[in-house]
Amino acid sequence: MTALASLASWYEREGIIAGMAGFNASVLEAIGNTPIVELNRFGAGVGPSLLAKHEFTNPGGSMKDRAALGMIEWAEREYDLSAGSEIIISTSGNLGIGMAMICAVKGYRLICLFVPKLNPSTERSLELLGAELVKVGARDHTGGFHLTRLERLETLRAERPNAIYLDQYDSPAAIEAHRTSTGREILEQMGAQLDAMIMIAGTGVSSMGIARWLREHSPDTEIWLVDEVASLTLPRSARPEPLFLNGMGTSIQPNNYAGDAFSRFVDEVVYVKAGEAIATATHIARTKGIVMGGAGGAACHVMREHAAAGYGLGARLLALIPDQGSRYTQTQFDLEWLENMGISGPALAVRNST
Ligand SMILES: Cc1ncc(COP(=O)(O)O)c(C=O)c1O
Repeated sequence: MTALASLASWYEREGIIAGMAGFNASVLEAIGNTPIVELNRFGAGVGPSLLAKHEFTNPGGSMKDRAALGMIEWAEREYDLSAGSEIIISTSGNLGIGMAMICAVKGYRLICLFVPKLNPSTERSLELLGAELVKVGARDHTGGFHLTRLERLETLRAERPNAIYLDQYDSPAAIEAHRTSTGREILEQMGAQLDAMIMIAGTGVSSMGIARWLREHSPDTEIWLVDEVASLTLPRSARPEPLFLNGMGTSIQPNNYAGDAFSRFVDEVVYVKAGEAIATATHIARTKGIVMGGAGGAACHVMREHAAAGYGLGARLLALIPDQGSRYTQTQFDLEWLENMGISGPALAVRNST
């Protein structure tokens, strides 16, 4: 019997195929249930088990599908949405894809404000999904795009008074979606033991949602946040400088971290350079066959180089991998782009990592 045939017969014996309806009513039902994979070789020589949760197996290719669904379902409860209703969002790519996917299914019109960090293939995918794109090109005084993006948002909202703006920087609904889906799923998959959870700090919806579930149900799990050097996202941030990694680093502190969220849910914060993150992502691709974006590389870098040091054999550390690296072949994993951005470290790694 071939491996595939024996896998199929195991599924049947276990009732996995028979127990399911066999298909989903729409792509939205395929969101979630993403796998956790051990990064054995990546962790060789390190005591604890290093694991990664692959959020890129969501149908839109990233963990943002979950936040997008939570935000749209919230809007449906709050407003009288119907086919043709207009929704505005600001995105560095992944939320846009998740939102555009959901809007395509539900018949809403999506307008995406985006910045030049967006990979051209993501831009095309957004168009393919029917989203309307509004590009914000100029950097603000912090070196980022966030503030110019907010200015453009105001004019856009004035031009489209009936459109509903969904703000991922301040979204209890998106946090709640991650709390009850990703957070719950992680503990179900990890069984009773999760010693440290390593996540990217962007808008905060994923990390603050997951951290809430972990604090409630696994209070001993250490929560690590990872951000790009010079990001202003977190209260302990430094000076503003250009940022290169999608989904990481903002020019403001998102409201999702407001109040006591940061002190209650975060144990450690580590800043990484774009070059370190991209080199780690490249190394994992070459040694584990997993193609993740720079944000996932940043989380894995911190898991191995910082978090692992505090744990011995038998401990289990988990990094959340936000999205797939193929989304960045024209940016983070392109030698010319790296050179243009002045990111010299990983150029060799992209070509030659072992
Ligand atoms: C690739 C990537 N990594 C990390 C993040 C940060 O996640 P969050 O906004 O939930 O903090 C995002 C968010 O867009 C992302 O797209």
